[in-house]
Amino acid sequence: MDFKEELKKYQKKVENELAKYIKDKNCPEKTLNESMEYSLMAGGKRLRPILILSTYQIFKDNIECCMPYAVAIEMIHNFSLIHDDLPAIDNDDFRHGKLTNHKKFNESTAILAGDGLMNYAYYVISEDLKNTTDPQGLMLKLKVFNEFTIAVDRMLAGEYVDTEFEGKPISSDYLEYMHKNKTGALIRLCVRIGAILGEATDEQLEELTSYAEKIGLAFQIKDDILSEEGDELITGKPVGNDREKNKCTYVTKYGLQEAKDILEKIISEAVAITEKHGEKGEFLKQLAIYIKERNK
Ligand code: IPE
Ligand code: IPE
Ligand code: MG
Ligand code: MG
Repeated sequence: MDFKEELKKYQKKVENELAKYIKDKNCPEKTLNESMEYSLMAGGKRLRPILILSTYQIFKDNIECCMPYAVAIEMIHNFSLIHDDLPAIDNDDFRHGKLTNHKKFNESTAILAGDGLMNYAYYVISEDLKNTTDPQGLMLKLKVFNEFTIAVDRMLAGEYVDTEFEGKPISSDYLEYMHKNKTGALIRLCVRIGAILGEATDEQLEELTSYAEKIGLAFQIKDDILSEEGDELITGKPVGNDREKNKCTYVTKYGLQEAKDILEKIISEAVAITEKHGEKGEFLKQLAIYIKERNK
């Protein structure tokens, strides 16, 4: 398997699907719709939708049934980024190599664009539920929907802890809690959506959840490392900003080298879980390694 090629294929699939949800520009709120599109189509890595699709494909092939959830999670993710960048939260000016939403438009538009993307995500899911006639399929999707709302709640909890502790000392337990929630919760959700819709057994679901919890924490630790020593031209967002704003991160808590050692350990644990799935787990294995090695 050529991992880079597979990743690109998934990215393209997600981009094409998202493009179907672009909103009308012929209305009084056209700037709001433009600002939602500006962030949603800005070219993120699409990691979360890809996790849904690739986990599902361990079990089944017809990924079409996952697409509404892939779209919805990317809407929630972009809502979280727009609000995360606001002056009241991280006060950042660049994302994806472009001005952040509030810099490109203005603060009120960015707040409403975030709200709009959050609601759009739930609309997309509700449409899919409305159109599902098979009772077994509907039960699985209702379980997914319920978990979706809980994961968004956890993401918000993590973001809250992040803001509360900015500039203050944080315990290692609270730091881990913050990371597991603000970033880990949506990543965990995505793997679980793929596994639930793919009708994984309870045991498989638990094992994949454990993989997801590891890569979710690792993903944020790597984000902390990139904020310390990344290349702005590649990450497309500011470097040095966490330190400047006295953010609580794995780098500021443990130092760069120890943060890298922790990352290495967690990723090797995640890789070990995927190895139990043999050939079918190969993509998730490579994805875990990519999370550690990525430079954006
Ligand atoms: C950035 O997430 C915010 C975090 C939760 C660390 P990503 O790095 O997945 O964002 P994009 O969409 O690919 O830019
Ligand atoms: C973002 O965390 C987490 C969410 C948006 C939920 P960060 O603030 O650390 O992420 P970046 O570095 O701005 O992407
Ligand atoms: Mg933040
Ligand atoms: Mg931020």
